[in-house]
Amino acid sequence: MKILVTGGAGFIGSHTCVELLEAGHDVVILDDLSNASGTVIDKIETITGKRPAFYQADAKDRAVLHEIFTAHRIDAVVHFAGFKAVGESCHIPLAYYRNNLDSTLALLEEMAQAGCTRFVFSSSATVYGPDNAIPYVETMPTYVATNPYGWTKVMIEQILRDYCTATPGFTAVLLRYFNPIGGHPSGLLGDDPNGIPNNLMPYIARVAAGQLDKLTIFGDDYPTPDGTCRRDYLHVVDLAKGHLKAIDYAMEHTGAEAFNLGTGHAVSVLELVNTFMEATGVNVPYVIGPRREGDLPQMWADTHKAETILGWKAEKTVADMCRDSWNFVCSVKKQ
Ligand code: WQD
Repeated sequence: MKILVTGGAGFIGSHTCVELLEAGHDVVILDDLSNASGTVIDKIETITGKRPAFYQADAKDRAVLHEIFTAHRIDAVVHFAGFKAVGESCHIPLAYYRNNLDSTLALLEEMAQAGCTRFVFSSSATVYGPDNAIPYVETMPTYVATNPYGWTKVMIEQILRDYCTATPGFTAVLLRYFNPIGGHPSGLLGDDPNGIPNNLMPYIARVAAGQLDKLTIFGDDYPTPDGTCRRDYLHVVDLAKGHLKAIDYAMEHTGAEAFNLGTGHAVSVLELVNTFMEATGVNVPYVIGPRREGDLPQMWADTHKAETILGWKAEKTVADMCRDSWNFVCSVKKQ
């Protein structure tokens, strides 16, 4: 099948493109490269031996979307393109609502004109908000406390549910990611945010590489076993494979359906740092700092639905995630 991947040059998108190509699908990437490098397309080709069609454009651009759907018979869309920084979204909420919602609406309208009826959406565990019990289950209410980024995910899920209700035969698979980390075993693909990383693993990797002097652990006075926050970290390659299962599901079902993509296990900040040092043999100096506003003490996924309905289960270990994060940073340093 031919799959349009918006944001396909990004961290999760590029790993998903690799898995799609290696599974025999054709891939068309739409990415404006606002938060990714064009060299990722070359790396996807190096890994798979196949070069996806690539359009450098904004996913809101109806003319480009129409060009893509006219030039290619797209069987399904995987929609990653969007702004994704929780803190930034609090400062520029209109940009987040405009970008994340308009790109989704534009895609759905072009899909309708082209007769494309399968949509896989990059959602987030953030939609569960601060008050749901742990582990999160897909039937729980979704609402977000304070960040517009999270609200865009809740709103887009609702847009997709309403559209599916009004459009018999359309499928929307809502994939709620927990904390994806790691990189491709080749070392060619990984999490390479612009500037100083907001997220834990890329920050750890850059400290290990000597690019940042130390890690600040945001609080060790949480109600958790070691006082640091606990998250459900999953390997980005496992997450990418979950998208292939979602596409298979979309080919056989209609309507909107949400799935948690996590491991079902929580790992603390200190545990992740220590596992990284053990797995790589590299020291990661750290200090304990104040809590980061908005952080929840702990969250992890109930994975029963993805395991039983999608037939997907994360397989890689936390040590694998650490080693592959480190391999990526080392390969970037060599370039
Ligand atoms: C993990 C833990 C921090 C950096 C975010 C988004 C979420 C999703 C995944 C998009 C927390 C601690 C971090 C640092 C630290 N993204 N930390 N020092 O916040 O769970 O989730 O990314 O969907 O929407 O909210 O991930 O990696 O930022 O933080 O101590 O320098 O690491 O306090 O406890 P988070 P994270």
